[in-house]
Amino acid sequence: VITMAPTLLILLWATGILQVDLLPDKKLVLLPPVNFTIEVAGLSQALLRWEPNPDQEGRNVKLGYHVKISAPQEEDYETRSTESKRVTILHKGFSASVQTILWTDPSLPASSWVSADLEAPAGSPGTSVVNLTCTTNTAANNYTHLRPYQVSLHCTWLVGKEAPEDTQYFLYYRYGSQTEECQEYSKDTLKRNIACWFPRTFINSKGRDSLAVYVNGSSKHAVIKPFDQLFALHAIGNDEQKPLTEWFLIVLMATICFLLLIFSLICRICHLWTKLFPPVPAPKSNVKDFFVTTHYEKTGSNETEIEVISYVEEPGFEVLEDSVF
Ligand SMILES: *[C@@H]1O[C@H](CO)[C@@H](O)[C@H](O)[C@H]1NC(C)=O
Ligand SMILES: *[C@@H]1O[C@H](CO)[C@@H](O)[C@H](O)[C@H]1NC(C)=O
Ligand SMILES: *[C@@H]1O[C@H](CO)[C@@H](O)[C@H](O)[C@H]1NC(C)=O
Ligand SMILES: *[C@@H]1O[C@H](CO)[C@@H](O)[C@H](O)[C@H]1NC(C)=O
Repeated sequence: VITMAPTLLILLWATGILQVDLLPDKKLVLLPPVNFTIEVAGLSQALLRWEPNPDQEGRNVKLGYHVKISAPQEEDYETRSTESKRVTILHKGFSASVQTILWTDPSLPASSWVSADLEAPAGSPGTSVVNLTCTTNTAANNYTHLRPYQVSLHCTWLVGKEAPEDTQYFLYYRYGSQTEECQEYSKDTLKRNIACWFPRTFINSKGRDSLAVYVNGSSKHAVIKPFDQLFALHAIGNDEQKPLTEWFLIVLMATICFLLLIFSLICRICHLWTKLFPPVPAPKSNVKDFFVTTHYEKTGSNETEIEVISYVEEPGFEVLEDSVF
């Protein structure tokens, strides 16, 4: 009986370990999402959507999805949502795959992949525009509710090498949820549009969205291949007005400096300073002269003056006081 007890304990312990090891495998097999679709949600904007697999077991587990975009640009991310919007060029097509993962335990094997594509738009090669360049300009600080920053947009391009003579191009831009078609084109000798000017746009020059520009076209002799391009706005940095927060910080700093100055003056007058901070016994006279001459002469900022005041003795301070006020 005495030898049986440890054996039993070991047996119990072993089965315990076995159960713990087996549990996660038994618990859940992840199934791939269903009805995965990709559609164009706007200019240079794709909307990916899928549904959880209806046969998925485990109602109370937190499912997530691992999305892999392979074209036009590789991207890899995880989400708990069943839809996802991507801003990317679409004239080369778009391909992505998605798999189900366990959100709470990424070590559990993920499901198999499901894939979907967005075909590149139809068109004859060499018919789309080339060398599309766009510039924005913040004209004036004329605030209206619709277009807070009064940004204008100017785009130019070259006609595709294989585009027939009767080709006509049309330019659109999208910023955020706003899309507009160009109304003012410049034309080449064959009356084909080769530049566009928007005097006012929905572009917010302080915004973080990228600008999507799309040019399609028509011809009797060929299908004109559309072209789209994304532009980062921060590359154009025209700061005509400092944002309110910047002004607020500047005023705050100035106020703090002023209050510190007043405070140190009061301390000085009431002879509190020497009580609070007994003078440093170090090489007194040398330090004093050094600070008075160099610091004061080099910079006239309040900060330096405060620093000086906290170090200098009577004679030096008189000089400072005169020049501060
Ligand atoms: C998937 O799509 C089919 C056909 O559109 C539809 O009948 C089905 O309900 C969808 N499944 C899910 C889980 O939404
Ligand atoms: C158009 O761009 C290509 C490269 O993208 C460049 O080689 C070519 O010189 C450009 N053409 C003009 C007219 O600017
Ligand atoms: C601001 O814009 C509005 C219309 O966009 C115009 O009527 C007004 O004259 C402009 N104001 C200034 C000061 O430019
Ligand atoms: C160009 O694109 C716009 C916006 O997507 C569309 O409304 C228009 O019909 C297209 N034009 C041609 C000629 O394809």
